[in-house]
Amino acid sequence: MEFPQYRPRRLRASANIRRMVRETRLSPDMFIYPLFVNYGKGVKDEIGSMPGNFRLSVDNLAAEAKVAQSLGIQGVILFGIPERKDEMGSEAYNPDGIVQRAVKEIKNAVPEMVVITDVCIDEYTTHGHCGVVDEKSGEILNDPTLDLLAKMALTHADCGADIVAPSDMMDGRIGSVREALDENGYGSVAIMSYAAKYASGYYGPFREACDSSPQFGDRSTYQMDPANAREAIREVTQDVMENADIIMVKPALPYLDIIRMIRDRFDHPLAAYNVSGEYAMIEAAGRNGWIDRDRVMLETLLSIHRAGADMILTYFAKDAARLLNG
Ligand code: PBG
Repeated sequence: MEFPQYRPRRLRASANIRRMVRETRLSPDMFIYPLFVNYGKGVKDEIGSMPGNFRLSVDNLAAEAKVAQSLGIQGVILFGIPERKDEMGSEAYNPDGIVQRAVKEIKNAVPEMVVITDVCIDEYTTHGHCGVVDEKSGEILNDPTLDLLAKMALTHADCGADIVAPSDMMDGRIGSVREALDENGYGSVAIMSYAAKYASGYYGPFREACDSSPQFGDRSTYQMDPANAREAIREVTQDVMENADIIMVKPALPYLDIIRMIRDRFDHPLAAYNVSGEYAMIEAAGRNGWIDRDRVMLETLLSIHRAGADMILTYFAKDAARLLNG
């Protein structure tokens, strides 16, 4: 491999040669498209910090799922924006709640669409935390939260969800959700675990979308410290031992090292979440004319895939699919 005999530029000489030696390719079927389901009717409300993404009421979901399907996207993940929030997040496990109805609507309209549900109570609690809060100490209680998560996952399975995705970061949640599903005849419903989820500033726009910012403190007693890499191995190991089917690293772009490390150490399908803040940064710079938005979007998704993610949860799903489909 010595110059002048070896010349790497030979394989970059034309578009066709470059295509031939390309190591990584994106395709729409690796994208999972997040949808925000709003209470009410006829709602299509653009999210300020996530332009191009909307809070949709249940009656507007089928159309959106069909568009996604026509672009080659095979999975959606649902987040709920309920009418009422309370201390215990009871709308999260209401059998007739917002996401429960959304699952039925999409499975009914587009049966082949893989419907994934986010399992976490923060969008449904007045305090905005992902767990039950101890009244006196303000502590986020782990074990009492597990029952609520299991109950929530069950209502999603009851409505036809294909995959449930716990994102709360309580210890032991995968086991408790798996047990509840199995005991109730949902042995075939899969679990996608937000296994290595970091306490990240990149979730800002999502919290605006769902009005789910913690009302006191932050999430650092349950989400991971951004400084830790080896800890991700322990988190993923535990979730795999508890029979998670798919594991996830979140966020994606600032954690490409974690994605690569988990890819190299585990055989499970690996998802990465290209989160709201990653979306907002590219969108904002693009709108200002500071970067070529489409190019940076595809380069970013490619980098996440190259780092080792099999599937990518991304708000760019539709636009990226359109570009890839040509
Ligand atoms: C928790 C949850 C969050 C996201 C997905 N699930 C927010 C949080 O942990 O604060 C963030 C996703 C994003 O930023 O795009 N239910």
